[in-house]
Amino acid sequence: MSDDSTPGTADPALFDKVVNLCKRRGFVFPSAEIYGGFKSAYDYGPVGVLMLRNVKDAWWRSMVQLRHDVVGLDASILSPPQVWEASGHLQNFSDPLVDCKNCGARHRQDNLDNPDQCPTCGMSGQFTDPRQFNLMFKTQAGPVDGAGANAYLRPETAQGMFINFANVVNTSRKKPPFGIAQIGKSFRNEITPGNFVFRTREFEQMEMEFFVPPAEAQEWYEYWCNERLQWYIDHGIDPSLLMLRPHDADELSHYSSGTSDVEFMFPWGWGELEGIANRGDYDLKQHAEHSGSKLEYYDQAANERYVPHVIEPAAGATRTMMAFLMAAYDEEVVNDETRLVLRLHHRIAPYKVAVLPLSKKDELRGPAMEVFSMISQRYQADYDETQAIGKRYRRQDEIGTPFCVTYDFDSLEDNAVTIRERDSMEQVRLPIGDVMGWLAERLG
Ligand code: GAP
Repeated sequence: MSDDSTPGTADPALFDKVVNLCKRRGFVFPSAEIYGGFKSAYDYGPVGVLMLRNVKDAWWRSMVQLRHDVVGLDASILSPPQVWEASGHLQNFSDPLVDCKNCGARHRQDNLDNPDQCPTCGMSGQFTDPRQFNLMFKTQAGPVDGAGANAYLRPETAQGMFINFANVVNTSRKKPPFGIAQIGKSFRNEITPGNFVFRTREFEQMEMEFFVPPAEAQEWYEYWCNERLQWYIDHGIDPSLLMLRPHDADELSHYSSGTSDVEFMFPWGWGELEGIANRGDYDLKQHAEHSGSKLEYYDQAANERYVPHVIEPAAGATRTMMAFLMAAYDEEVVNDETRLVLRLHHRIAPYKVAVLPLSKKDELRGPAMEVFSMISQRYQADYDETQAIGKRYRRQDEIGTPFCVTYDFDSLEDNAVTIRERDSMEQVRLPIGDVMGWLAERLG
């Protein structure tokens, strides 16, 4: 964290610093900027797309690759109304909306500090009666209008896992306790998107539905609460910036017997990164009832048929990327100059290595390119030959690259390169033949 902030406390100045960095270094751009921007939509630039992919890969690695009891899925984004009737979204997925009769601004009533005063124009007593605004994006599938052609963009990835429960059980040889994981885009017509990519109308989720015998639900709920909190710590977020917050009874959905949020200390205070919910048998029963399909598990050994209960860790990929950026942002004074450095975990950092020839003369460019080709076979690497080497180091610090490999004029003689480490700025000289082994020890 920057010098003037204490870990575990909100730092409002950090917000602007990170948003500016995102624009300046190619992490995140406002969408349709040349047309004046499209509110609440963002495009991930050359560096941001790598980082977002790394967030998703790190989640997939922990949740699917390293586990014998979780399989993956990629379900469709477009879905028919029946799915959302059964899930309850068509009836209940709404927020209370009020309009200010004085200035015309729209607000989510439940987010207002003073439910009687418009935060846009300051007038009191000017709100319309609240009305429920459904957050789902509705569209038409095919060229013919009409009720039969209605379709929805999914507001969560979760339902894809429930409606494919039987398909997965029949094809994967998994039995409870087991999970289905999915990463993908979701869409919500949020009334008040904001705080950069924290709340947007189009975003990415990383969700897993873990199906368990009913008697084991509480045990698995506690297990996943701990696992998911630890995941953020393992990927470099200081524990003082994280907390697990159990929901109060009046916050719980009617079907949930327990929900906890992993929260992060954003510049404006604590905010949700992920919810872990004990959803009981609600989802499978709803879809069984509405579709007429049997969504049960038959335990042959016990000769018993039951509807599994579900534990759901549901995270946001785009929101999590923002938290990683905020947690990693640091400024320190080096030789009377402020050095901005993103102390990102190497799995999350956009580039793992940057190859920097000391000069862009041909005699260095050729062999430096060969070093780049060697490293980029295994690791996402950057190559940069313009500007003074100090400026290039600073640029890599600002995008969080853990290692810079410099090829200089001595390299032509000794066939060795200098590797500079981002956080300590320490340098080592290594024969080119040893570079891949050295990197593998540090990057995996
Ligand atoms: N299936 C359960 C579910 O979708 P949720 O709490 O509504 O639960 C899970 O969403 C996560 O998705 C949130 O913790 C958050 O990280 C992310 N998320 C939800 N709405 C979002 C939005 N409008 N913009 C960005 N991320 C969002």
